[in-house]
Amino acid sequence: MQQLLVRPENMKRIDSPELAKAYIDEQVAAIKEQVGDGKVLLALSGGVDSSVVAALLIKAIGDRLVAVHVNHGLLRKGEPEQVIEVFRNQMHANLIYVDAVDRFLDKLAGVSDPETKRKIIGKEFIEVFAEEARKLTGIRFLAQGTIWPDILESEAGIKAHHNAGGLPEDLSFELVEPVRILFKDEVRMVGKTLGLPDGMVYRQPFPGPGLGVRCVGAITRDRLEAVRESDAILREEFAAAGLQGKVWQYFTVVPDMKSTGIRDGKRTDDWMVIIRAVNSVDAVTATIEEVPYSLLLKIRDRIFHEVKGVNRVLYDLSSKPLATIEYE
Ligand code: XMP
Repeated sequence: MQQLLVRPENMKRIDSPELAKAYIDEQVAAIKEQVGDGKVLLALSGGVDSSVVAALLIKAIGDRLVAVHVNHGLLRKGEPEQVIEVFRNQMHANLIYVDAVDRFLDKLAGVSDPETKRKIIGKEFIEVFAEEARKLTGIRFLAQGTIWPDILESEAGIKAHHNAGGLPEDLSFELVEPVRILFKDEVRMVGKTLGLPDGMVYRQPFPGPGLGVRCVGAITRDRLEAVRESDAILREEFAAAGLQGKVWQYFTVVPDMKSTGIRDGKRTDDWMVIIRAVNSVDAVTATIEEVPYSLLLKIRDRIFHEVKGVNRVLYDLSSKPLATIEYE
């Protein structure tokens, strides 16, 4: 049983638990054959792809998978805790949790250019991961959550696909890519069948730089906290209203701009929270979700009560084009 590098043309879409189960059995055998009694390293973000890869590897080789979760401080509320709960507590994974929050936020302090922010986040991530990798010995393999659209996009020249995660040359590993030939919906079906929680399997798209691109301009800790808390409220209220899994992507943004308000009879100079909720198929175009007005008002009230330093809540009516989905 060898790992396939290319999706066979006649491969049936994995759209049922039975087909997922067959794929899982095949991959577990393929991983065992490739890895033997070796150890495998994985950067586990908690996103769908890396989570499914982790679950497959745990099934195949147990604690010979070394999963590294880097908390860069730009994750959504509850995400690092969920990674620890699911992988360490429930699946008994060999999980290294790295709290790199201060390190990332210090590097990003005062940086307002979006592309520079993205570069810093990407570069720092590789550095933190490489440092952890160097502390470990006897690891020959690196697992990656590459999926079939990544391969198609890199072939079409749309996206550079970084083999081995762009790691420095002294860290050379043989790749293990057990979801490489799958489409996203198939990865989700496999994840669901492996027993991963729905909150992990059916999550909305989330950019690599995380909340960093939703804390527009130079990231400050207070605004980042306002993004994280308001995003958590939005997600909770969308879930309670049955919109989770129906709306393609929804989040909040806090721009680097204050406005005048009034609280307890006193003038305030505070941040604003922008709510964004869009539908799309491929992220190339997007339309806005017509969120019920009553729900928007409920979210507004919770943000006013629960999020510090905010005196205004706005709803973004812009489709893509002319706007992009994210703000920077
Ligand atoms: P835009 O803002 O370009 O976003 O309309 C399209 C989709 O891509 C996501 N996105 C990113 N994903 N790194 C990522 O991994 C990024 O830097 C990034 N920027 C945008 C965005 O969330 C949307 O789903």
